[in-house]
Amino acid sequence: MRVEVRIGAAQEVEADAVVVNLFEGVTAPGGATAAVDRALEGRISRVLAAGDFRGRLRETLVLYTDGRIPAPRVILVGLGPEASFHAEKVRHAAAAAAQRARDLRARTLATVVHGAGRGGLSPEEAAQATVEGVLLGLYTYQRKKENAGGSAPETLLLVEFDAAKEAAIAAGARRAETLARYVNRVRDWVNEPGSDMTPRRLAEEVSGLAAEVGVRAQVLDERQIAALGMGALTAVARGSEEPPRFILLEYAPEGRLERPVVLVGKGVTFDSGGLNLKSEEGMLTMKGDMAGAAAVLGATLAAAALRLPVPVVALAPACENMPSGKSYKPGDILRALNGKTIEIVNTDAEGRLILADALSYAVRYGPRAVIDVATLTGAAIIALGQDVAAALFSDHEELAAALLRAADATGERLWRMPLWEDYLERIQSDVADVKNSAGRYGGLGTSAMFLKQFAPEGVPWAHLDISPMDMAEKARGYVPKGGTGFGVRLLVRYLEDSRP
Ligand code: BES
Ligand code: MN
Ligand code: ZN
Repeated sequence: MRVEVRIGAAQEVEADAVVVNLFEGVTAPGGATAAVDRALEGRISRVLAAGDFRGRLRETLVLYTDGRIPAPRVILVGLGPEASFHAEKVRHAAAAAAQRARDLRARTLATVVHGAGRGGLSPEEAAQATVEGVLLGLYTYQRKKENAGGSAPETLLLVEFDAAKEAAIAAGARRAETLARYVNRVRDWVNEPGSDMTPRRLAEEVSGLAAEVGVRAQVLDERQIAALGMGALTAVARGSEEPPRFILLEYAPEGRLERPVVLVGKGVTFDSGGLNLKSEEGMLTMKGDMAGAAAVLGATLAAAALRLPVPVVALAPACENMPSGKSYKPGDILRALNGKTIEIVNTDAEGRLILADALSYAVRYGPRAVIDVATLTGAAIIALGQDVAAALFSDHEELAAALLRAADATGERLWRMPLWEDYLERIQSDVADVKNSAGRYGGLGTSAMFLKQFAPEGVPWAHLDISPMDMAEKARGYVPKGGTGFGVRLLVRYLEDSRP
């Protein structure tokens, strides 16, 4: 989709549909909505007087303009109550209006920049949120569809009356386009079936994209992984015919990689559970078990595309977890890259194992902070609810606070959970340094405490368990059903705000 800024009045723009907005409960519109209303001889006011449009968030109404303005249709969209207004509402409203325009088969869609007037957002912020909402809200997974492309609008015009805001709006729009490109790419990776999105395929796609934005990509194969001493990744991968890969991205702005933020992501391209095989229901969505890897890889590529002045490294251990005659077994004892031994209680607790090796690897970079992202536990979904929030664990107050701020700004919700020492007791093993499961109770806390044993000592570390958020059960606003791309915008926002 092409995105352009048009300086002028909303009632004068040429497009197949023009979007204007309204806060909930407002009966006398202002700004661009009022100007369009006047051009339509009070048609919007009459709809409001009749009580037929309330302005609830994502509510839309299509009005036909009968030649009174160049655009044949006006789409009125609700922003929800003014008191709880936030950039997140803009993303949702912009998505709802864009989806309505797609249903109407509009080729050119014009929209006001939501939230810049009465909403109180800066023009740049408002433009970014508006364009993010449109581009993220129109996403569909179409790699396997015959008629790819569909009926989505080809052009988006951001209409602004005040020429002084043009540069800021253009800048916000460009940022949004870059972010949405990588978020939507990550959604594709997650949606791609497990038999297609193998570790090798993921490594290949990522390497291709890295070259485009000047990021150094390195892919270690099974021999190199074993030779390094990554005993946990090697063991988990062993049951599969598909070889593992360890994907590394290094983004060094102006050639400098000192004290990078290291992002680590779980890349299990299919999790059958291994010998502790999952049920039919449990296995159905496990093509998405590489969403953590996808998120950190996508965020690193986006950071580079945006030329953020922050060095970033992404580490993504990628493998399948499969049952076979070669599978690792309950009772096995593995040695991770940092030398610690792990007793296998359950082969379905595989994510923490491959992350143990990757977190151990992170120390080589002398990182400023280490953040891992993983679809680690079903317990996170039990605790927080499907499609509600991801769990945040951190032993560092400032890092936790920075991530919570980024979550608030991006609408990618996090909820902080405790890292009590009790959880460490529960994963003590009689035969190894630690065991990989303590059973059902406290499964969220014990999984995080397990990871902490492998994070570089003395380095701020955070763990995001995104199991509730990686694949949406149903579409909601700008978040489609299936792969959500959760974490990309959150991590980029964190990186932006953490410039050294
Ligand atoms: N990938 C799963 C976690 C998961 C479950 C993600 C549901 C998304 C939706 C993970 O590898 C897993 O199987 N975890 C086990 C751990 C248990 C065996 C200690 C779980 O949560 O049941
Ligand atoms: Mn598992
Ligand atoms: Zn898993």
